[in-house]
Amino acid sequence: MRKNINSVKVFSPASVANVGPGFDILGFAINNIGDTITLTKRNDESYVMEAIGAELPLNPEQNVATVALKSFCMHVGHKGGFDIKIEKNFTPGSGLGSSASSAVGAVYAANELLESGFSREELITFALDGEALASGNRHGDNVVPCMLGGFVGVKNCDPYEGFQVSFPDDLNVLIVFPDVPIKTSEARAILPQTVTLKDGIKQAANMAGLIKGLMDGDYSLIKASLQDVFAQPHRKKMIPQYDRVEDIIMKNGAIGFNISGSGPAMFAFFNKNQGLTEVKRQIESVYNAEQIHVQFLESTINKNGVTVVQ
Ligand code: HSE
Repeated sequence: MRKNINSVKVFSPASVANVGPGFDILGFAINNIGDTITLTKRNDESYVMEAIGAELPLNPEQNVATVALKSFCMHVGHKGGFDIKIEKNFTPGSGLGSSASSAVGAVYAANELLESGFSREELITFALDGEALASGNRHGDNVVPCMLGGFVGVKNCDPYEGFQVSFPDDLNVLIVFPDVPIKTSEARAILPQTVTLKDGIKQAANMAGLIKGLMDGDYSLIKASLQDVFAQPHRKKMIPQYDRVEDIIMKNGAIGFNISGSGPAMFAFFNKNQGLTEVKRQIESVYNAEQIHVQFLESTINKNGVTVVQ
């Protein structure tokens, strides 16, 4: 049992939300990228932010981490301030749950530092206060996988109700991130507020098929179900060369492809650790021709969620 600690450092992973048909309700955490957040108690009541690796708002009222942190501290009655250092090794606005990583990391670190004893599930509601600042909406498909790890379905956010989806061990993820800015709030604003019955039925069938396919390791069912009729048809227009990238990826043996969260990052599933050098080369040449920088990340699904690293 740690007592009277003054500082906690956590790693809070990036995540892929929506995952095709699971708009706002399905997401998974990924390895290797995320926020490292160090939270240190101060002797006064101020919140002092430091951001490394990305330009983040340093005003505590405008930063997702501090908004989430304040919500938690108000709930537990903690009046002291903090130094909050966020080291970000991926770009905010990439579609990889940057705001969720910061909000979850800050709240989880505070729970550890203040020894408040909340469960991960109970902390979700505070992290969502930060997420809502970034996207204007309380959706948990980045926050929940970042907090709990794994591949999750979110039935309800406040209070959290949801479930873990099992997935095959050899499921690998390729992230393709063309460096073009897309704000989640803008990517939400372009979506129609109503869907047709036909599209609702299609989405529900794809969601059921994707979950069954993941749980059974049935790659043809995953491939047939990893489609989104709610957001992807509208949002893909915001992502340069989306159709060409999809074509390259699917011709190179992917099990599925779609937008990661609100984009511009895209993700693909592969069912073995196959060499992806040629796929990446082809995609790179598409973006080079447009003078758009593109980054790739190969990952497995992160099963741990946010963790203390010291
Ligand atoms: N489900 C969210 C969206 C994820 O697609 O807008 C991004 O926050």
